[in-house]
Amino acid sequence: SSSSIITGLGKKVPDNVMTNKDLEEIVDTTDEWITQRTGIKERRIADEDTSSSDLAYEASLEALEEADLSPEDLEMIILATATPDMLFPATACLLQERLGADNAGAFDLEAGCSGFVYGLGVADQFIRAGNYENILVVGAETLSKLVDWDDRSTCVLFGDGAGAAVVQPSSEAGILSTVMGSDGSGGDSLCVPAGGSLHPASQKTVENKLHYIKMEGNQVFKFAVKKMGAASVEVLDKAGYTPADVDFFVPHQANTRIIDAAAKRLDLDMDSVIVNLPLYGNTSSASVPIALKEAVEENRIKPGDLIVLVAFGAGLTWASAAVRW
Ligand code: ACO
Repeated sequence: SSSSIITGLGKKVPDNVMTNKDLEEIVDTTDEWITQRTGIKERRIADEDTSSSDLAYEASLEALEEADLSPEDLEMIILATATPDMLFPATACLLQERLGADNAGAFDLEAGCSGFVYGLGVADQFIRAGNYENILVVGAETLSKLVDWDDRSTCVLFGDGAGAAVVQPSSEAGILSTVMGSDGSGGDSLCVPAGGSLHPASQKTVENKLHYIKMEGNQVFKFAVKKMGAASVEVLDKAGYTPADVDFFVPHQANTRIIDAAAKRLDLDMDSVIVNLPLYGNTSSASVPIALKEAVEENRIKPGDLIVLVAFGAGLTWASAAVRW
C-alpha cells in the first residue's frame, strides 16, 4: 500500500477587507485590544450572495489546476465546514455539481476548525487502503454569517475563506502520519445551539440569539494550547521524529497568543511557525490550508521539508499531520 501526498493546493478569500478600525464602528472595541489579545489586524468578509460553497469552488479549481487534474478524475470530495450552505444537502455535493466532478462521491466533515486536517487524515486512510487515487479535501467557511455582530467577544475573531488540497498516492514520502482526537465534554464551550434537531428554529430561538456562535473563550484557549502541543508531539512520534526535527509548523490560526504558547511548549523557534492570522483572522477549517498554500507560494516551505499541520476546534476536536513536503 502506498502513502499519500498533496499534489495541488488552492485558496480563496473574499475581496472585502474588514479592519479592526472598521470594527470599532460596529462594537465597543479597539484596534489595540484586538491586536494585543488576538494578533488579528484584519479579516475578509464574504458579501451577502457568497456562501461557503462559492469559496470552496474557487479554492478547488486552483488546487485541481496545480495538480493537473480535471474534475472528472476526482473519486472523492471531502469538504470540512462548520458553516455549510444548508443543514443538508452536504455542501460537498453542491461543490461536486459545480465542479462537474461526475465520478466523485462527496460528503461533509464536521470537526470545527480541525476539519481540514481531519479530512487529510481520512483521505490518507482511503489512499493507504488502496481504493482511491484522486481525492479533493477542502476547508471552506463563512463564519461571518453565524457571528453575532453585537457580541464583541466573538465577532472580532473570525473571517471567511477556503483552502483546498488534491491528495494522491505516492511511492515516496508525503503524509507520514496523522492524529484525530476529540473531547465532547467541551462541546458547550464552542457551539451554535439552535437550528438543529435539539433546538429547532423557532421565534424563541431567534429572540434568544441561539443561531449565533457562542464561545467560552478562556476554556477554548487553555484546551487549544494543551492540545496543539500534545497533538504535534504525538503525530511526530508516530513518524519517528521529535519537534526539533521539524522545518515548519502550520498551526490553526485562531490567536497569536495560542500559537506562541504552543510553540513555547514545544521549544520552537518562531521562524519555523507559519502565521498569517493578522491578515485573515480565524477562518476555522480554512486556516491551515490557506496558511500552507501561502507558505509554499512564498517559497518558505520547500520540497524535502518536514512539516506539521496542527489544529483544534469545536467538538472539541484536535488533529495533526506530519508531512514530508
Ligand atoms: N474589545 C474590547 N474588549 C473586549 C473584547 C473586544 N473585542 N472582547 C472582550 N473584551 C473584554 C471582556 O469583556 C473582558 O472585560 P472584563 O475584564 O471587564 O470582563 C476583557 O476584555 C477580557 O476578556 P477575556 O475573555 O478574559 O480576554 P482573553 O484574554 O481571554 O481573550 C479571546 C479573549 C481572544 C476570545 C481568547 O480567550 C481566545 O482567543 N480564546 C480562544 C478562542 C478560539 O480560538 N476560538 C476558536 C476556536 S476554533 C473553532 O472551531 C471556531
